[in-house]
Amino acid sequence: MIFRQMFDSVSGTYSYLLASRRGGEAIIIDPVLEKVDRYVQLLHELDLRLVKAIDTHLHADHITGLGALRDRTHCITVMGEQSKVDVVSMRIGDGDRVQIEGINLHAIYTPGHTDDSYSFVMPDRVFTGDTLLIRGTGRTDFQNGDPRAQYESLFGRLLKLPDETLVFPAHDYKGDTVSTIREEKAFNPRLQVKSVDEYVDLMNHLNLPNPKMMDVAVPANLRIGFAQSQVARRGWAITAAEALALVGQPDVALIDLRETEERDKHGTIPGSLHAPYSDLVENVRPGGMVNELASATGKRIVFYCAYGERSAMAVQAAQDAGLTSARHIEGGLDAWRRSSGPIELSQTSTRD
Ligand SMILES: [Fe+2]
Repeated sequence: MIFRQMFDSVSGTYSYLLASRRGGEAIIIDPVLEKVDRYVQLLHELDLRLVKAIDTHLHADHITGLGALRDRTHCITVMGEQSKVDVVSMRIGDGDRVQIEGINLHAIYTPGHTDDSYSFVMPDRVFTGDTLLIRGTGRTDFQNGDPRAQYESLFGRLLKLPDETLVFPAHDYKGDTVSTIREEKAFNPRLQVKSVDEYVDLMNHLNLPNPKMMDVAVPANLRIGFAQSQVARRGWAITAAEALALVGQPDVALIDLRETEERDKHGTIPGSLHAPYSDLVENVRPGGMVNELASATGKRIVFYCAYGERSAMAVQAAQDAGLTSARHIEGGLDAWRRSSGPIELSQTSTRD
């Protein structure tokens, strides 16, 4: 496995780059805007293709690199479903998996530092965001923080991972880089409490100043969505209401760009085909599945995804490949649902 822990000394943030092999797919966790050039250079040097970028939560101390990485690499942006960020490509819930080639991150909802905090578990390590830090825990006094919820996230979830699990936090201000669950149980001063009430009392009396960047970072981090309006201005977008009339039309191919797990969980537009965004480049080039579908049958291609980000990038790629009839549904399945569009639930689906 390729694993890089990268540090932003201004905000004390750790970002993590993961890939299973040189020449393969990569994922980045908690990227910092000012470091995006460095990440892109490293991806190039290691011959990696960034396919996903995750923020563990809405950060208050630095501006996220999610939007810039999406614009530079066309990667999928990922955050928790509780996040108030305007648009990310994919939202995940407790128990969901974030997958790239050869790497599987298991998402666990660990609120407390913020109400949108997630941790990501691999067999030997966990990325804890600001929920569990090395010999500390993330503050709970703003952004809907809640020390009671954090106690449960720590004692009910993270500390139940195997003792030898490596702990990689989103921040460190002392120079530590990694810990283990065993070490934190034994030596983290915040975890030496006897009850949830003692923890709440401890967290409520920290009296910390607000982060220097907070007034800038939070508003910036809330608005990172891809400018779908640019795609609309070129006439490549249709509204969900307009798309309703296209279901069942013989000359239209609705193409779902989401991943199988998202389709199983949230359902699909009836009659739509599946061509995951990760395979988009192959699919739209001459000879590719989508390209053949359009050129051999004359069907108009209409992409959709969860929120319209992936489909807006896809319509651009399809147009670049010469598929001039390609369109996308602005706002994705989310807008479709709000327009009372019909949803087909997979029969194998076991949860809502
Ligand atoms: Fe944070």
